[in-house]
Amino acid sequence: MHILGIETSCDETAAAVVRNGGEVRANVISSQITTHAAYGGVVPELAAREHLKAMPIVAAAALRESGLGMAGLSAIAVTNHPGLVPALLVGVSFAKGLARRLNLPLIGINHTLAHVYGAFLDQTARLEQPATYPILALAVSGGHTLLLLITAEGRARVLGSTIDDAAGEAFDKGAKILSLGYPGGPVIDRLAKTGDPKAVAFPRGLLPRSGHPVDPENRLNFSFSGLKTALLYHVKGRTLEGQELADVVASYQAAIVDTLVAKTVLAVRDSGARTAVLCGGVACNSALREAARLAAARAGFDLVVAPPKYCTDNAAMIAGMAWHALRRGQVSGPDLHVAARLPADLGRVPFAPGAG
Ligand code: KG4
Ligand code: ZN
Repeated sequence: MHILGIETSCDETAAAVVRNGGEVRANVISSQITTHAAYGGVVPELAAREHLKAMPIVAAAALRESGLGMAGLSAIAVTNHPGLVPALLVGVSFAKGLARRLNLPLIGINHTLAHVYGAFLDQTARLEQPATYPILALAVSGGHTLLLLITAEGRARVLGSTIDDAAGEAFDKGAKILSLGYPGGPVIDRLAKTGDPKAVAFPRGLLPRSGHPVDPENRLNFSFSGLKTALLYHVKGRTLEGQELADVVASYQAAIVDTLVAKTVLAVRDSGARTAVLCGGVACNSALREAARLAAARAGFDLVVAPPKYCTDNAAMIAGMAWHALRRGQVSGPDLHVAARLPADLGRVPFAPGAG
């Protein structure tokens, strides 16, 4: 069964064709990074306009690349939440029109849960094994920083999230302060390799320090706004260069990575998770990938790190996850809505062994 997936929740227009949940036949992504770079962040109305232009071209390219005609498709899947509403509406309207024209089922997909699924796209058999569960996922992107727990029965809930900036925002805003351009994550990742991560002692938000225990209600929450302010004070309007810049960047990145990894280990311990998953755009970060691998080896849990091509937004994760929903008859109607936020109750994920 081949499913066409559509993704327009942020600044990537993406379409993919995936067979039976894991065989990626086409994965086309058109990025708007250059459009938004001048603003230092994604502008929702601009994103929607760019999606409108790119959507039909990207979808046609995915179909062509897959070698299938429209007649070879079994369903249309689309991200309908969470995300930027004007951007989501473009993908959802396109998917609705196509599903109606081809008389195919339409499947609305939760973008965040699809990021978790994307980590397994190259090894979907693991998702069929009860021993993989519970899964604790750290989903880190420009829009959110979440610790999610998924049980073998398919129940998903949020254990922790950021109380201010998302991890990706911390990278992007840090890069803006240091005049490194947008998006900040990749450039900070690269520069940090030549710096000393211990050069500056930046704060680790909501992590216990000696004499400063963390408020229990924030045990699994994140905060990055204090770190951003500390960077601002450290720089004090100067333009850093050379080794000093690399050292500051490496130290700033280390504060984010340390916090993400420490909270993930805590959440694994608290929840008794068997597998931890690292996914979302920030999961591309090489220092985070390395630190998470070391922590998993030390603490003795399995770690699945999403392949970089499935970390950032893509439609293969949407089309892949949708196959499980289709198998279980979880299809959407023509009134499929869009929503900016992740609901408090994540409901059931379709890909766990007991989810049906
Ligand atoms: O998941 P994603 O593509 O889009 C959203 O849903 O937000 O994530 C984009 C975010 C941006 O904030 C970007 O700076 C960050 O992921 N990012 C990285 C790296 N590559 C992308 N952050 C740290 N290190 C990277 N190598
Ligand atoms: Zn995303």
